[in-house]
Amino acid sequence: MRANVTAHKDYVIAKIDPRLYGSFIEHLGRAVYSGIYEPGHATADEHGFRQDVIELIKDIDVPVTRYPGGNFVSAYNWEDGIGPKEDRPTRLDLAWHTSESNEIGIHEFAEWAEQAGTEMMLAVNLGSRGLDEARAFLEYVNHPGGSYWSDLRKKNGREEPWDVKLWCLGNEMDGPWQIGQKTAAEYGRVAFETAKAMRAFDKNIELVVCGSSSPKMATYPEWESTVLDYTYETVDYISLHMYFDDHEKNTANYLAKASLLDNYIDTIAAVIKTTKAKKRSNHDVYISFDEWNVWYHSNEQDKKILGGNDGWPHAPALLEDIYDFADTLQVGCILNSFIRHSDVVKIGCLAQLVNVIAPIMTVKGGPAWRQSTYYPYLYASQYGRGTALNLAVQCESYSTDFAKDVPYLDVSAVESDKDGGLTFFIVNRHPDESIELDLSLQGFTHQKVIMDKVMSGHALDAKNGPDAEQVAPKDGQGASVTQQKLTASIAPMSYRMIRLGV
Ligand code: AHR
Repeated sequence: MRANVTAHKDYVIAKIDPRLYGSFIEHLGRAVYSGIYEPGHATADEHGFRQDVIELIKDIDVPVTRYPGGNFVSAYNWEDGIGPKEDRPTRLDLAWHTSESNEIGIHEFAEWAEQAGTEMMLAVNLGSRGLDEARAFLEYVNHPGGSYWSDLRKKNGREEPWDVKLWCLGNEMDGPWQIGQKTAAEYGRVAFETAKAMRAFDKNIELVVCGSSSPKMATYPEWESTVLDYTYETVDYISLHMYFDDHEKNTANYLAKASLLDNYIDTIAAVIKTTKAKKRSNHDVYISFDEWNVWYHSNEQDKKILGGNDGWPHAPALLEDIYDFADTLQVGCILNSFIRHSDVVKIGCLAQLVNVIAPIMTVKGGPAWRQSTYYPYLYASQYGRGTALNLAVQCESYSTDFAKDVPYLDVSAVESDKDGGLTFFIVNRHPDESIELDLSLQGFTHQKVIMDKVMSGHALDAKNGPDAEQVAPKDGQGASVTQQKLTASIAPMSYRMIRLGV
């Protein structure tokens, strides 16, 4: 099969916000305890942070990390996690039916974030609590001193404020599973008043209001419309979440699901525009896609814990999906969709970063290892910063019962603002045909392939583990640039990243 693609220097989508490649750490399962934090581990530093995990995170270069939840935040008291560790209470976490020791709180997480080189994105509890808790937390975190909460921070050992810019106004408030679920109107009012109070305190923060937790919600997209009606002028982003699964084991359908993501983003972008017009506003609101990933492999094994059959365990192995090669391709397609929507999606958080539906796994007392999905995320974060290009793509396509004309070739392109490199992120969704790529480079002076990484030839269910990395990139072969044309043969069911230099 052939595919003709045109890239033109002047046909750009947007400058990508680097925070598109963010992630998420929740007090859930082993994300924190025995994930990022394991005192006594051979690589742990004096704070108990595993340096083997930090190294893997630094390689990805995660720009921002959302914390502390997720569902967890909707019944969380942030004050439980400050002060001497021995005085901190153990709480029963209602979101995941586990015990929370509060050994890690905002001070410890901030220390970890600094070590990992990632900015914090903090969520306030608008489920069981509200405005008052939010303003106290903000004052504790961002105020220099001379007030009750900021002085308490100093007393607890942190002199300087952390100056956190990004704040989430609750989490998935549309979900019946959420502690303190609200109707769109109830949430819209609370979010507006909380945003008003937080802004009165600190004009420089950026606020994220909750959109739908999935396009499958019965209240979608009316939810976004109502919530933005209340909050449009006081927020900067609306949050969307989406998880992908292949329960029916139909790879063609599975890999077409990124088109549902396209629809979701396009719909909410339209709601944002409509609200802006209705309000005669000059203000812009963007999308923060602050939870996305594949999530289904662990569903069955998690049922006992989530149902309370195992009591209230501390940091059990929850949501530990072990990803396969099909998931690698899926993550490649999702990231391509975000790059192609970088004019409206400014923040993205891969949910999550360690152990919980994560690209990085740990063995307690043992090694940290990379899942197969680590690689498309690594490449997008490392080489997908700069200007996203609007490619013209001609390629055969297929249809499913939920998506029409899904091209076998899924591709996005970014011109780097760091080294000028031109990077193509490519997935061939075809089960058994190669795609002969003919990519015309218009207005570019790039003449050579400077990097070519490929993941192909694996069984769709091939996985990595602590002892073996079966699904890893190799150097690609045969890509070349001649007379302003990039040509390459893209193997069936493959992920490929090709970088061009001048
Ligand atoms: O990431 C796992 C969970 O998925 C989060 O806690 C929640 O926000 C979503 O439902």
